[in-house]
Amino acid sequence: MVEIKAVGVVGSGQMGSGIAQLAAVHGLKVWLLDSDPEALSRAKTFIAGNVRRMISKGHISQANGDNALSLLSYTTNLEDFQDADIVIEAIVESEDVKKNLFRQLDRIVKPSGILASNTSSISITRIASATSRPPQVIGMHFMNPPPIMKLVEIVRGADTSDETFLATKALAERFKKTVICSQDFAGFIVNRILMPMINEAFHTLYTGVATKEDIDAGMKLGTNHPMGPLELADFIGLDVCLSIMKVLHAGLGDTKYLPCPLLVQYVDAGRLGRKRGVGVYDYRDAANRAQPSARL
Ligand code: NAI
Repeated sequence: MVEIKAVGVVGSGQMGSGIAQLAAVHGLKVWLLDSDPEALSRAKTFIAGNVRRMISKGHISQANGDNALSLLSYTTNLEDFQDADIVIEAIVESEDVKKNLFRQLDRIVKPSGILASNTSSISITRIASATSRPPQVIGMHFMNPPPIMKLVEIVRGADTSDETFLATKALAERFKKTVICSQDFAGFIVNRILMPMINEAFHTLYTGVATKEDIDAGMKLGTNHPMGPLELADFIGLDVCLSIMKVLHAGLGDTKYLPCPLLVQYVDAGRLGRKRGVGVYDYRDAANRAQPSARL
């Protein structure tokens, strides 16, 4: 089995920065790459803050935290990935953009390297078809935020080898995650079920059945979900939710997966959720961060 010692992570947004942190804290050499140097610099500050917090809360030792930070390198140059044993992609949820990246990674990463995607919904088989190494392409779907959530959903493409699957599973288990395995159909397991629920919450708001606060309170207190579906959509990113609904609709061919017009309109308006300070709720006022505001 491939022994993973060095990891490349592409995309330093919410997911990529968390995955890079997780890998470094577990003793792996990590390169974190983003095409946007500002995103990279935000990720560096974010990860350093998180590691310092883990040390101060006693979750890891000072030596472990210092070692994690020393294992992380930040780059905008894909060529730095040539020695990576695995590259985990966490860029924008677009099949064309991901395929283009995998084409480049295939050229750069050493022949034994695994190319994994953190995609929420896009076909691993189709992403793999952009490379010359489909047996070494796999879905490694972390949940948000990756350092905290206990699940990794592994998705095998049509040609993913047993060796790639076992090495990826071993890596997730090294991160102390529980692994579930999905066949390669749109949305896999978690988003196949979660996103239609979030989309239905948007329909419930759109058709005036209830306020956003009552929809969220209903699902939190009535079904024991830790976050309401609209609050969760803001946390995930409304652009990500919309992309996933489009993939479900295109991939499964049922009109029940059509994105709610209100979700589409919010994304058109740039209301992408917490990462933009406004989504279904308004987070721009610091006082509203813990408690989503009712102003919008
Ligand atoms: P994000 O928008 O926070 O970050 C994406 C980052 O990728 C940005 O910093 C952007 O500059 C960078 N990027 C875009 N194209 C690039 C390219 N060609 N090369 C290098 N960098 C590039 O997005 P987020 O939320 O981290 O999502 C990333 C992936 O993870 C998506 O595929 C998404 O579906 C998946 N995912 C998201 C979850 C969530 O809750 N947000 C949960 C699980 C998976």
